[in-house]
Amino acid sequence: MTTVETHDYVRAMKHSSKTFSVALAIGIGVLATETLPANASAAVDGKAVFDKNCSVCHSVSPPPKSAPPILPISARYHQRFSSRAEGIKYMADFIKSPSKEKVLADQQAITRFGLMPPIPLSPAELNAVAAWVWDQYTGGSWGPGRGQGRGAGQGDCYQQ
Ligand code: HEC
Repeated sequence: MTTVETHDYVRAMKHSSKTFSVALAIGIGVLATETLPANASAAVDGKAVFDKNCSVCHSVSPPPKSAPPILPISARYHQRFSSRAEGIKYMADFIKSPSKEKVLADQQAITRFGLMPPIPLSPAELNAVAAWVWDQYTGGSWGPGRGQGRGAGQGDCYQQ
């Protein structure tokens, strides 16, 4: 009699712990499916990426820190690319793996500041920060060749 009772008790325990594991697994599954899409769809803030990864070297407007300021770079990209998408794509690739050959904005910047190191970012971050840089130039006084004492191709806007 007692043996049977113990047996039932053990069976009941096994049953309930199995139910618990299943519930736990479902719980984890629900948690995972609830968090993943939220993260994946969160838009990357290009300004935040810039502040964190670029602003140590790049100021937005002159005077420069240890790299050319963003506004003249952005202006030069607008001069070189008529399409925003192409400009952003080129810039994202440069940020990921800069090289002397790829430099568009100012070859003299390398002589003055050295080549930019590669910045390890996710594709979404690269795209967001390049888009942010592209959008900084909205015309006006940094227009390539318009005032600022910049001779075409002289790149002397970084001298001050
Ligand atoms: C350690 C310093 C440093 C950091 C950090 C840095 N850069 Fe640069 N960057 C430079 C220097 C120096 C140059 C100029 C020489 C060159 O073109 O490589 C430059 C040039 C550039 C150019 C011009 C490329 C061209 O086509 O001429 C762009 C665009 C640029 N940086 C964007 C960024 C962005 C965006 C970030 C952050 C994700 C960043 N940089 C982080 C140092 C830095």
